[in-house]
Amino acid sequence: MLDDKDKKTVVMQSKNLNFELLTEAHADDLFSILTTPSVLAFIDPNENPPTIEELRAEYASRSQGPVVLATPAERWFNMAIRLKIPPFQAIGRLEATAYGEWGEVAYLLGEAWWGKGLAFEAMLWWHDYLAAVVPKTEWWATVHPINQRSIRLLKRLGYKEVDSNHCPKLYSYDLGDCCFVRSVID
Ligand SMILES: CC(C)(COP(=O)(O)OP(=O)(O)OC[C@H]1O[C@@H](n2cnc3c(N)ncnc32)[C@H](O)[C@@H]1OP(=O)(O)O)[C@@H](O)C(=O)NCCC(=O)NCCS
Repeated sequence: MLDDKDKKTVVMQSKNLNFELLTEAHADDLFSILTTPSVLAFIDPNENPPTIEELRAEYASRSQGPVVLATPAERWFNMAIRLKIPPFQAIGRLEATAYGEWGEVAYLLGEAWWGKGLAFEAMLWWHDYLAAVVPKTEWWATVHPINQRSIRLLKRLGYKEVDSNHCPKLYSYDLGDCCFVRSVID
């Protein structure tokens, strides 16, 4: 869970976007995005859309951090992305799990906001935020090879592809995924 020191470390906005610590209330904002087939296809290989009740429960749990600490160093970070201009829609979500010296990131935007550079803007901000709250962390991401938008985004952010046999045990890895790592640069 974030403490007050974390929350004050970084300005919670970028040029076009505001960022909010994810709470149960964001489930209602993000439900339609998370149940869109084009988004779901890339975040849940089984394409099982959550119910609104499941999503509220998941976000309530995420905002508390891990319920059972797998390792003492494990920390969860979850953020909702909101447009700065009216009607101030919530347009996506950022996630990170840190395990000490390394961690995993994940991200999504609603399809209506793809192809505008907003995911890149959000992820640049996310890495600045993470560098402030968990410095010196090597970040990993897994992507289905068909998800070329996501692969282009990771490469633009400075991630390099790594053979999956040479990766740490990534929680987000599904068989056949491409693995990417961004070396410590903060
Ligand atoms: C992955 C995902 C976040 C990428 O979103 P995106 O909008 O394509 O990513 P970016 O913000 O980097 O936008 C880049 C595109 O915007 C275009 N663009 C338009 N205006 C731009 C601007 N001002 N600045 C930068 N790029 C701009 C770029 O040319 C680029 O287009 P291209 O990919 O066709 O070359 C999005 O597709 C998504 O949410 N998918 C579903 C969930 C998902 O796959 N999550 C990741 C699982 S691994």
